[in-house]
Amino acid sequence: MIEVITDIEEMNRLSREKRSEGARICLVPTMGALHEGHLSLVRIALEKADFIVVSIFVNPTQFGQQEDIDIYPRDLKSDTEKLYSLGAHVVFAPGSSSMYPKGYSTFVSVEGLSEGLCGRSRPVHFRGVTTVVNKLFVIVNPHIAVFGRKDAQQLAVIRRMTEDLNMDIEITGGPIIREEDGLAMSSRNSYLNEQERKQAAVIYRSLCAAETLVKSGVKTSDNIISKVRNILEETAMAKIEYIDIVDVDSMKSVDDISGSALLAVAVWFGKTRLIDNVILTV
Ligand code: PAF
Repeated sequence: MIEVITDIEEMNRLSREKRSEGARICLVPTMGALHEGHLSLVRIALEKADFIVVSIFVNPTQFGQQEDIDIYPRDLKSDTEKLYSLGAHVVFAPGSSSMYPKGYSTFVSVEGLSEGLCGRSRPVHFRGVTTVVNKLFVIVNPHIAVFGRKDAQQLAVIRRMTEDLNMDIEITGGPIIREEDGLAMSSRNSYLNEQERKQAAVIYRSLCAAETLVKSGVKTSDNIISKVRNILEETAMAKIEYIDIVDVDSMKSVDDISGSALLAVAVWFGKTRLIDNVILTV
C-alpha cells in the first residue's frame, strides 16, 4: 500500500514517528505528471533510505503571472499508481490553500545564484522554489532529498540554501533521463505538437556537438557557444533564450573551461520553453 497524505500535520506526525523508529527518510519533491526522469529519482531514494516520501505539489509561487500554471499537467491517480509500483511509501499532496493560507508572507530567497540563466527571464521562479522546498523540508523533515540534474541551477540554489541555513539534509542530484532521440524528459514535453517534438531533439544534438568540440581541445566559451547557437539556429522552430557556460557551483559565466563547467541552454519551441544542460570536462 502507498499512503496519500494531503494534510500537513498528518505528514509531519508520520515523519516524526518514522524518525523515532530509526527510519532514514528521503524526500523526492515533484510537481507531479511523473515521467521516467522522476521515477529514476525515486529509485535513487529507495537505494539511499528506507522511508520514501514523494511530494506532488504544483507550486504557485514559482510560476510568473504569464506562465503555465493553469495548464500544467496534473494526474494524481496515475502518479500514485506509478509510485506504488516502485515501492515509495507516501505521496504527500497538500492543497495550495494549506501551503499558502490567507496572509502568507514569508519567502526564502538565495541571492546571486538565482539571478542568472533561468532567473533572468523568470525573476520570481527560484524564490518560489526555495520557499516551497523549505516548507517541504520542515514538514517532512527528511535526512536526504533528491532532485534532478536537468534543473541544474535549481539544484545549485537548493544546495546553497541548505548549506546557508544549516539544514542537516543530504542533497542528492539524479542524472538527466532522455528520450530515444536525446530530448531530456520533462513534464512540459507534453505541450509540444508533433513537429515541435521532432525538432526539439536538436537541443541534445547541440550539446553533444559542444562535448565533441571540447574533446577536440577547444576550451573557449565563446567558440563553444557559437557552435551550439549555429546548430540550434539551423532548426526553424527553435528560438534560443540563452546559451551559457557557467561554473557548476556559482552559476557564473566562465570565459574558458578549466576542469569542468556547465553548458546550459533554454530554447523555445512555439509556446514551450525547454531547458537542458551538460557538464563539459577538459
Ligand atoms: O523541480 C520541480 O519539480 C520543482 O521545482 C520542485 C523542486 C518540486 C519545487 O516545486
